[in-house]
Amino acid sequence: MSIAYREALESSVPYVPARTVRSLKEELHVDKIIKLAGNENNLGSSPSIIDALLNYRDEYSRYPDFANTELLIRLTKALNVKDDQLIFGNGSFELITIIANTYLNAGDESIYAEPSFGWYKNVTLQAGAIPVAVPVNNDHAVDLDKILQAITGRTKIIWICNPNNPTGTALNQKELTSFLSKVPDHILVVLDEAYIDFYAGSDRPDTTALIQKYDNLISLRTFSKLYGLASLRLGYGISNPTIIRDLHRVKTPGNVNAAAQVAGAAALDDHEFTAKVLENNRSGLALYYDTLEDLGLEYIPSNGNFIMINTGLDSDQVVSEYLKHGILLRGGNEFGMPGWLRITIGTEEENKLVLEILKEIIKTGPK
Ligand SMILES: Cc1ncc(COP(=O)(O)O)c(C=O)c1O
Repeated sequence: MSIAYREALESSVPYVPARTVRSLKEELHVDKIIKLAGNENNLGSSPSIIDALLNYRDEYSRYPDFANTELLIRLTKALNVKDDQLIFGNGSFELITIIANTYLNAGDESIYAEPSFGWYKNVTLQAGAIPVAVPVNNDHAVDLDKILQAITGRTKIIWICNPNNPTGTALNQKELTSFLSKVPDHILVVLDEAYIDFYAGSDRPDTTALIQKYDNLISLRTFSKLYGLASLRLGYGISNPTIIRDLHRVKTPGNVNAAAQVAGAAALDDHEFTAKVLENNRSGLALYYDTLEDLGLEYIPSNGNFIMINTGLDSDQVVSEYLKHGILLRGGNEFGMPGWLRITIGTEEENKLVLEILKEIIKTGPK
């Protein structure tokens, strides 16, 4: 006899991540896979984390610092917030789950843009709440007016991914301020800023100022992108002390392991590495823009470490074609954007290779 899971989970399906490099190597019998499907950092991570982890080795038998003191010291200073305004998570995936488990009752509605990061829908369904997807506008940007129109008496959370994964569009300070001033203050707005470090436009959102002004706002950040620490699982939330205290009702003690804390603190200190990552992303995007314009292909200018391209071909077939070359990309079908590809910006060499293959595919079609 199987044990019945909670009724709410009837409609909740497991999240589908990008394939792992290991499973693909085994399946394709190749030595090397270039993974550009998970928006990870293909420059790796700061070399300084190695010494930091080695120096910590005598402490691995101890529980981690449950208060995340080193990270707290650095981040409160960098963000100009107080200790009780931060919460740490096992990646921002976990923080999104914690938020849903703290605030969503069965039957509540949670609103998010579509396409956007898929986990907002999963956690909504897990809570027995109702997902409300609002399509992005014709420029593929999160449509704040439509989101405001979707608010009902049952709305509890609005998830705004900024910059938006997968479209790469971004909302600026003015747009967010205008939006927040119209959202009733009993609705929580979650600003998922996983890619904010790659923001390319002007009038970049001043998250700390927004949080000081709006009591129903939380921002989420991650060490998985700019800092290249995706495997260690480290993210944090910035909000007001009341929301942070509420979230601690749900948070597991010691959810952030010691290796993540130690490496995270070292990574924050290495400005040389982050400058290199940002410059690589800027020049990588510029190469994509130039080449795609030459090819006459549509793309969405990106504020992330990835780019969406409209190949005009069946994207599943294009993804398969790339796999033959050992390159893993994300097809647009899963985002409701058939014909499109989402490509993580890689090293210069990787970007050039992706574009060479694209030229070939456009010329001859997927084989
Ligand atoms: C928009 C967005 N939010 C959150 C996450 C999860 O990040 P983390 O690695 O911190 O769990 C991702 C991962 O790709 C993402 O794209």
